[in-house]
Amino acid sequence: MTGKFITLEGIEGSGKSTSLSDIKKILDKYSISYITTKEPGGGPLGTELRSLLLNKNSNITSEVELLLMMADRKDHVDNLILPNLESGVWVLSDRYLDSTYAYQGGGRKIETSTIDKLANILNLPKPDLTILYDLPPDVALQRAAQRSALDRFESEPVDFHTRIRNAYLERAKREKERFKIVNSSADFDRVKEQVLKIITKFLDE
Ligand code: TYD
Repeated sequence: MTGKFITLEGIEGSGKSTSLSDIKKILDKYSISYITTKEPGGGPLGTELRSLLLNKNSNITSEVELLLMMADRKDHVDNLILPNLESGVWVLSDRYLDSTYAYQGGGRKIETSTIDKLANILNLPKPDLTILYDLPPDVALQRAAQRSALDRFESEPVDFHTRIRNAYLERAKREKERFKIVNSSADFDRVKEQVLKIITKFLDE
């Protein structure tokens, strides 16, 4: 028996982390065993890679950023994601490969085919369900700014975040089965309702 792999995606301040606790409650109700994790930084090398990637003083090129994200992901997949899925435990990850297509592809303008090649070489598992929290970047960035000091990505201009949003929507359009879009500009309760519906439907399938 293998566990299901669910990923949460969206721009900064899109409400993924708040939603995670709602999803956990539903899985608990169904007595599903699961772990929650996040990228970047979910594997053993996480702390160091995360600080390299998010620190505003890191002066790295887009290609190096891409390779570090992929290295972080491979470490995460091999040490945490796959062992859990293989033993029947579900994995709920706050960000995964679609973040790389959106941020390094859409945001930093790296060719999709380059990311495709790396993803193939690394043999990364595909999520069973991806929830995309979608909302306009100006609203999301305001939320993110209220939360804490801005990191290297959050400090980028609005059009960087608009490209990320569009790249996510583009991917969602191409993989309608896997992606479910949540309108994250709605109020808290409405977002929760949408997520509840998506997870319940997924569990019933
Ligand atoms: P984090 O503090 O975890 O923020 P968030 O709550 O938005 O997930 O920061 C992760 C940052 O790393 C976020 O700005 C997105 C970026 N990122 C990429 O650029 N590419 C990737 O492949 C991943 C996983 C994250």
